[in-house]
Amino acid sequence: MLQGSAPGKLILLGEHAVVYGHRALASPVSLNTKVQLEPFAGATHLGDSSIQDERLKQALALALPAHGWRVQIQTDLPIGRGMGSSAALTIALLRAADSITGQRSSFDELHARGFPIEALFHGNPSGLDHAVSALGSAVVYRKEQPPLPIKMPPHQVVVLDTGHAGDTKKLVAGVALRRPKIGPSLKRLGELVEESLSVLTDPKALGLLMNEAQTHLEMIGVSTPKIAELVQLARGAGALGVKLSGAGGGGIVLALTPQGPEQVLAAAAQRGIGAFACTLGKH
Ligand code: MEV
Repeated sequence: MLQGSAPGKLILLGEHAVVYGHRALASPVSLNTKVQLEPFAGATHLGDSSIQDERLKQALALALPAHGWRVQIQTDLPIGRGMGSSAALTIALLRAADSITGQRSSFDELHARGFPIEALFHGNPSGLDHAVSALGSAVVYRKEQPPLPIKMPPHQVVVLDTGHAGDTKKLVAGVALRRPKIGPSLKRLGELVEESLSVLTDPKALGLLMNEAQTHLEMIGVSTPKIAELVQLARGAGALGVKLSGAGGGGIVLALTPQGPEQVLAAAAQRGIGAFACTLGKH
């Protein structure tokens, strides 16, 4: 069977600011989306899928030949939680399309072809999410520039789920509306990325920058009371740096746990909150 797959991502620092030309720091996670193609005598269409979204039809039309394939999509990623599910889908679809012709697109080709597909889900994507998905490496990313792959120590993190999907397109549009008033917070979110690059091996210093980023993400209006509750919970359980990750408005909270994930996982379980541990900088 022909197929393509790609990983999701977590943003450590710089979400939203990256849309305005600042850099962001992100890493792939070892949760993947897989697209399988079965030959079919008729129009290309969606068969079994663990993603249900009306925009999928348009995504298939942009990525695949109009005729000849039944498309199956399976993902380990939570949908709409800021973990790059649409970016992983985009790159997995393009890789599946490549498998039909036997070609292996370069990163630049995948990234360029990915923009109109990501735009179906994001409106005005910076390109960060599908850059991480296509590269499969931690990156520092500035819009309209080639991503800079970086070596990141394998940071232990816990991901806590608000239980609600955030709508990236709406959140990005909301930030645009609140400018220029929130300009200083966007600028500071960008500066935190630059400061993080010299403390990537120091979880304590990195954690402080993540905590400051959460304050500014609240100021630009993309946090929610539920996010704030999970941030407090993880900090109370000893996490060093805690912030929303991705577009916000729901989605997930990222907690840096160099001491191990157990305490944060136990605190989340006690409150009935979905959470899992993973490692950043590794895929
Ligand atoms: C979403 O994962 C990240 C945002 O910065 C949007 C983007 O970069 O396209 C909120």
